Amino acid sequence: MQYSPEINYAADAQMAVYAEHVREIMRDRTGGSSPKAFVRTYGCQLNVSDSEHIKGVLCSMGFELTEDQQQADFILFNTCAVREHAEDRVFGNAGALKNLKSRKKSLILAICGCMTQQQHVVERICRSFTHINIVFGTRSAHKLPQLLYEYLTTGSRVIDTDDQTDGVVENMPVHRDGSFKAFVPIMYGCNNFCTYCIVPYVRGRERSRRSGEIINEVKGLVAGGYKEIMLLGQNVNSYGKGLDEHINFAELLQRLCDIEGDFKLRFMTSHPKDATRELFDTMAANGKICKHIHLPFQSGDNEILRRMNRGYTREKYLGLIEYAKSVMPGLSITSDVIVGFPGETYEQFQNTLSLIKQVDFTSLYTFIFSPRKGTPAEKMDDPVPYDEKSRRFSELLRLQEQIANAHTTKMEGSVFEVLAEEIRDGEVSGRSEGNVVIQFPGDESLIGKYVNVEVTATKNWIAKGRLAGIN
Ligand code: SAM
Ligand code: SF4
Ligand code: F3S
Repeated sequence: MQYSPEINYAADAQMAVYAEHVREIMRDRTGGSSPKAFVRTYGCQLNVSDSEHIKGVLCSMGFELTEDQQQADFILFNTCAVREHAEDRVFGNAGALKNLKSRKKSLILAICGCMTQQQHVVERICRSFTHINIVFGTRSAHKLPQLLYEYLTTGSRVIDTDDQTDGVVENMPVHRDGSFKAFVPIMYGCNNFCTYCIVPYVRGRERSRRSGEIINEVKGLVAGGYKEIMLLGQNVNSYGKGLDEHINFAELLQRLCDIEGDFKLRFMTSHPKDATRELFDTMAANGKICKHIHLPFQSGDNEILRRMNRGYTREKYLGLIEYAKSVMPGLSITSDVIVGFPGETYEQFQNTLSLIKQVDFTSLYTFIFSPRKGTPAEKMDDPVPYDEKSRRFSELLRLQEQIANAHTTKMEGSVFEVLAEEIRDGEVSGRSEGNVVIQFPGDESLIGKYVNVEVTATKNWIAKGRLAGIN
């Protein structure tokens, strides 16, 4: 695999010049006060991480971030294309911005992310969303100063949906949403082309960041007091392929665990095709890695898995789970599943249910198949009506509810280490290593700390508990 050269954003003198010009022009437009930017993110954690970098770039141009659309001088939607529903929400919300713009002519509106990497979406924006001023794709975020400058100096719509540059941009500024949990992308793009999925088309080919860059970023986060670091990629198990250094994901994890400090690592997403025993052994051997794996299976039926182009069988998946559980008793396993893939019969769906029973997942992300333009599955025969798919979907949800409930009930009487995250419904809410939400009486002073909580009861799959100690 050939990478385009790595781009060092911090050393990009041209972008710094554009940023300075934008700062001056925006200050003039807002009468000397700091312009305000509102960023709304749709989709997965990788998109959240991209938005954190975009916010960093905006701050470097003198913007202040706001949570209030009405106050904003610049509004950006960072979009997701994974299912039709996600796209419909963006179009609905982008349409509603027209009103805002008609009341505030100086408002700058932008759309970026996975949706804008599709030609038909850009055409629709150009045709029906004439109030949108800037459109940019998943590989153009670092060019935002230039794009804003072009719009501000010409007043014409600016579009940059480059799909040729599959490089890695390092040293982009970042404005993190949290102060104790952080996302660190370790790779971008995807090469797997599951037949239902749009991601490889909108995110480009798989490319890994150099291990030294990742290690330095994590060291900086740990030194800054971050407690939990989530490593991100569409298929973290193929980390390192194509790099000029010899490293795989298990080795990267090991090197990160060697960083001194009080922190935990999580990662997602693991693809079963590339999951190895070495990965599970590394997880088992290191206290710093949470004993939780998100391992999407998508379907429990071999014929459907083959037509999805997933690259593994039910037996291979179950074998991985068996090994993982043998080296990590109590491991929490979560997954993604699709109901109603084109042509899926009721019998094939039953194979999915039986796999769910066999694995005993802590929780599941469940989706009804959504045809995506340009993917092979979009063109497959799909004789099962949507109503029937919905009915099967409800059947699956009922099963998983029972399993999840049994899980949390089993936790009663035991003590779990929990990272306290927020106050919710008057209680502290946090997550166990296994990623189970646990709520308990307490106050703000606990937020961002690891505490021990004894689970005393369960309510609607949420574990309730009492503080048993602070670590
Ligand atoms: N890379 C991850 C993997 O392979 O497991 C998944 C990333 S994808 C963004 C998140 C989930 O969305 C997938 O695991 C799949 O269950 C679901 N998904 C993707 N395309 C879909 C589609 N066309 N219809 C329904 N669900 C879909
Ligand atoms: Fe989509 Fe498959 Fe890539 Fe995951 S591995 S992002 S499901 S193509
Ligand atoms: Fe993520 Fe959606 Fe793009 S799930 S990679 S934001 S299509």
